[in-house]
Amino acid sequence: MYFEARIQKNLETVTNYRTNSIVLEWIRAQEIKKSLEADIAEELGHAGELGQRLKQLNANPPGSAAFTAQQESLQPPEDSTDVLAVINGVLDAEDGAISPYQQLVELAQAADDPATVDLAVEILAGEETHRSELRGFRKEYSGD
Ligand SMILES: [Fe+2]
Repeated sequence: MYFEARIQKNLETVTNYRTNSIVLEWIRAQEIKKSLEADIAEELGHAGELGQRLKQLNANPPGSAAFTAQQESLQPPEDSTDVLAVINGVLDAEDGAISPYQQLVELAQAADDPATVDLAVEILAGEETHRSELRGFRKEYSGD
């Protein structure tokens, strides 16, 4: 249940990061586009690792019929130069990812499942790194 929801989020994130990285246009958008492209690979990797862990636990990762789209703030902005809107959407996605992975760590600890604890800790650290990078971008683009 927890894994399936995370895999769905990873794959929805891939879709929206790709779309936004294509839609954004502005000289100053280049850094964000690069960052989104790099994170697409990472998110796909997370979905793969979680799927493999499910398989090891004798279950299968979900197909798309199990999915409901949820990332409203990550839809491409009407103004294709609105980099800040995309940055805020990405920060929503990262914030939304972090607490479920913290919960997964706790659940896996309680279930005495160290392999899942390790995986969740590794993914959590990656998301926190990405969030702090995005916070830096937000400062720069909003002139805070
Ligand atoms: Fe991320």
